[in-house]
Amino acid sequence: MSQQNPPIETETCRYGTDAIARAADLIRAGDPVAIATETVYGLAGDATSDSAVARIYAAKGRPSFNPLIVHVSTLEAAAVVAELSPVALALADAFWPGPLTMVLPLAPGSPVAPLVTAGLPTVAVRMPAHPAMRALLEAADRPLAAPSANASGSISPTTAAHVAASLNGRIPLVVDSGPTARGIESTIIAVGDEGIRLLRPGPISPDEIAEVAGRPVIASGSDRIEAPGQLASHYAPSRPLRLEATERRDGEWLIGFGAILGDATLSASGDLVEAAARLFAALHEADASGRAAIAVAPVPDEGLGLAINDRLHRAAAPRD
Ligand code: TXA
Ligand code: MG
Repeated sequence: MSQQNPPIETETCRYGTDAIARAADLIRAGDPVAIATETVYGLAGDATSDSAVARIYAAKGRPSFNPLIVHVSTLEAAAVVAELSPVALALADAFWPGPLTMVLPLAPGSPVAPLVTAGLPTVAVRMPAHPAMRALLEAADRPLAAPSANASGSISPTTAAHVAASLNGRIPLVVDSGPTARGIESTIIAVGDEGIRLLRPGPISPDEIAEVAGRPVIASGSDRIEAPGQLASHYAPSRPLRLEATERRDGEWLIGFGAILGDATLSASGDLVEAAARLFAALHEADASGRAAIAVAPVPDEGLGLAINDRLHRAAAPRD
């Protein structure tokens, strides 16, 4: 059973035509690449591929699946990924390219992989300003998911050396374009019918956003507007979910793992990267199966299995 991938050689290449061509090849092959944005170095991967996104999580060693930001280089590309309301368009016009991330409804037919959004119907989108990330977006010709390029629990990297110190042996390539200008992650806002909520403070202030939007920006701590569970919410199936299932009971759809086969499997070979890649699609499929309940086979609590189990426990938790 493969938990963590074996160590690989991490190469650092100076930003330029060759480095971008090599990075784009790796992205197309489903591998993550560290590259600068104007905020921090990001660990970029193909946002349309669940398995490419699973490799980002595996490299970071994240114990849970937080939804990731999808990076695009044009407004047209943003509109393929997310629904851009008039307010979102006004904010994009004012602050893109730049360090503003908007959480928006997924566009119909959005190509973004379910693992990127943790199965949510919304997606975080940003158009970065840094030429290195923009060059990679254009060369790879697809949206790129990119969390900060550091191992889980360590601080965000603002130089290629920070990235290498944190992810050496876990990723194939760091594209070095010197220190990043901003040094802190983008401002994140949720732009919905109910208003604009600040989800993460960053380089662009709530006042600047409110001025362009012509409406206030509500702090996410405020209990005035927050829809129940919205901020913390992650995809949860509508049917009861039973964990650690070693067999299918009456009326259940069983999601297997390893030797436990079930109606569908996260990974018949017990591969945790493959299992992570399939997780949200498997839950959606189970939900749509028409069976009364869902059961999931045990997944080992190690490596990416920690993140898979974290998400499964949340999905199985009682809801109001
Ligand atoms: O500056 C940045 O934003 C950097 C650079 C690399 O672009 N990226 C970054 O990405 O910080 P990341 O993936 O670490 O930020 C993800 C955060 C999540 O923790 C969550 O707070 C928010 O974005 N987020 C993403 N999708 C969301 C969604 N659908 N609903 C609510 N929050 C979401
Ligand atoms: Mg981070």
